Amino acid sequence: MQYVMFGNTGMMVSRFCLGTMMFGGKLDKESCERVVDEAIDCGVNFIDTADSYGDSEEILGQVLPPEKRERVYLATKVYRQHSRDKRVGRNSRVNIINQLERSLRLLKTDYIDLYQLHHPDDHTPLDETIDTLNTLVQQGRIRYWGVSNHYAWQLGFMLGTCQARHLNPPVSIQADYSIVNPQIERETVALCRRMNLALMCYSPLGGGILTGKYHDEKGNVKVQENVRFENERWREMLKEDEVVKIVQANRRVAEENDLQMNQSAVLWLKDKPYVTTIILGGSRPEHYTRIYEVADAELPCEAVEKLDAAAGPRIYSPFKNQPIEGGFRLPGQAT
Ligand SMILES: NC(=O)c1ccc[n+]([C@@H]2O[C@H](COP(=O)([O-])OP(=O)(O)OC[C@H]3O[C@@H](n4cnc5c(N)ncnc54)[C@H](OP(=O)(O)O)[C@@H]3O)[C@@H](O)[C@H]2O)c1
Repeated sequence: MQYVMFGNTGMMVSRFCLGTMMFGGKLDKESCERVVDEAIDCGVNFIDTADSYGDSEEILGQVLPPEKRERVYLATKVYRQHSRDKRVGRNSRVNIINQLERSLRLLKTDYIDLYQLHHPDDHTPLDETIDTLNTLVQQGRIRYWGVSNHYAWQLGFMLGTCQARHLNPPVSIQADYSIVNPQIERETVALCRRMNLALMCYSPLGGGILTGKYHDEKGNVKVQENVRFENERWREMLKEDEVVKIVQANRRVAEENDLQMNQSAVLWLKDKPYVTTIILGGSRPEHYTRIYEVADAELPCEAVEKLDAAAGPRIYSPFKNQPIEGGFRLPGQAT
């Protein structure tokens, strides 16, 4: 397993992070315990959950006794509304504190290593949100805070506000990123590189598309049963030319390099220097197992180029008249 510094923090995290969205759903408690133990045995020291992932936090609390909990960095998110009172903003002081207390109780821990805003909140003043998170860091109840599903400008604005007010800033962003969904290359990647923010990629297999299970060898859509996604919008998306081309390119790259399709898709992400950690997902214990086999592998350049080319039409380019990075001098930065 490889480890990297988590952005501007002092945490050194594994390049694979254990995603637990299916804990308590398709994965029962016994399977969750197997998945957690295997991850730790394979060198994973980072686990991601959320207050809105059903029983995930509660099960994690049960399968992570203190000696195991101390060996991992635990990340959770706030989004669920503690009260039925819809006037309470999800990122408000009231909701954050209530939900954090609930997460700590369920997870059976007295601190969270990374506490994340799962989504932006239109209703709560930003100052209230970041003041609350800053206080929680000072109290030691959370070690760091980050965001998820925010646009680059929103995160940039938060960083500027924290800097101006001398508050603990967000250290990371968790974003949907895979060959089939490379949109964050538009703006978020440049922001992360420039500000040394940690980038955590979720849905590295596009929710399962990149395993090839939704298409036959010729690229025709196959009907699947008992899968996470099964609706009209999903079926239409599977038929899109670009999606079919991406799946086919990944299939060829996997075959040429003696890999499984889930392995080649994850390696494409792992090779990106700006990707801090990849959040692995699965609805069966074996979904995770094969990924650890390639923890120290790399894709050959030609394979990366083939997958880049397939993802290409979905990737944005910098403006022709100026680079995407740079643009102003940072405080204290030399010219
Ligand atoms: N911040 C956010 O908003 C957000 C959103 C989503 C996820 N996440 C985090 O990221 C983690 C990973 O996300 P994800 O679950 O969407 O990741 P993913 O790797 O894109 O999708 C995982 C799904 O792919 C299918 N799959 C995986 N391996 C397979 C294999 N070998 N053969 C066949 N199918 C396979 C399974 O789907 P089936 O269930 O259909 O079998 C599995 O549940 C989550 O656990 C969570 O921690 C965060």
